[in-house]
Amino acid sequence: MHLLPLILLAGAASAISDCARANIAWPTVFTDVDGLSTNACCTNNRGIDCGFSEKEEGVGRSCRIQCDENGFITSIHLQNIQLSTSTVPDFSTLTKLTYLDISMNADLIGSIPQSLPPALKTLHMNGCKITGPIPPLPGSLTDINLSSNQLSGSIPALPANLNSLNLNNNQLGGSIPALPPSLKVLSLRDNRFEGSLPSLPNSLTSLELQNNHLSGFIPTPFNFKPQVFDENCFVNAINLGSTNKKGCRNAIMTVPINGPTTTNI
Ligand SMILES: *[C@@H]1O[C@H](CO)[C@@H](O)[C@H](O)[C@H]1NC(C)=O
Repeated sequence: MHLLPLILLAGAASAISDCARANIAWPTVFTDVDGLSTNACCTNNRGIDCGFSEKEEGVGRSCRIQCDENGFITSIHLQNIQLSTSTVPDFSTLTKLTYLDISMNADLIGSIPQSLPPALKTLHMNGCKITGPIPPLPGSLTDINLSSNQLSGSIPALPANLNSLNLNNNQLGGSIPALPPSLKVLSLRDNRFEGSLPSLPNSLTSLELQNNHLSGFIPTPFNFKPQVFDENCFVNAINLGSTNKKGCRNAIMTVPINGPTTTNI
């Protein structure tokens, strides 16, 4: 008897376009809903309000949406837009989204939604005012930049094919989890990470660990400037030319320049 309205509702729900989903997620930016089933935002960014025109796009500033031939949003570039205060949008309903850059938006507050878009490869939310923990990370991610926010908590399990992880300048703590074998860039400086280092993958070409509470041994041999280990509490820091944080309890603070001396009593 009452099945028909249900079927109609289900039909309407599956007909909703990605542009309409984006409008639900972030109505201050995806403003044009001109018929919820059209793909307005895929056509010349119709209905995207970035606070500046396409002509004003430039280095460090972007306002661009890309869709596939079926109107599914595949990439969102909304870097350094003129936004009034907004919480981090939940784009988890965008199933084809692989690239999400909403970085350098100083008015972006709140925490990262518990679920991220399931096919996401690139996640750039650096330079905002995002607080709270990092949610579980989709296995598809290869490039993460969440640096210069106010994130807290610890790092969740890292995706197996991750290439680049930048979490510099947050309030993250706990120990550093196992690093995927493909990792090339690991930037964790200016946080509160503690414990010893996991093994560093051979693929690593860039490393920043300064100013944390890490301890134990710096792995040797290593291919990085000793300074990347500064301001931690590594036992062998000084003999490798790196400086320990003041007040390290567990680390050896001084190593004799001319080797150990023996004193006969
Ligand atoms: C990540 O964000 C920081 C700060 O905004 C920036 O300096 C850096 O170049 C970005 N990219 C990577 C790959 O870390």
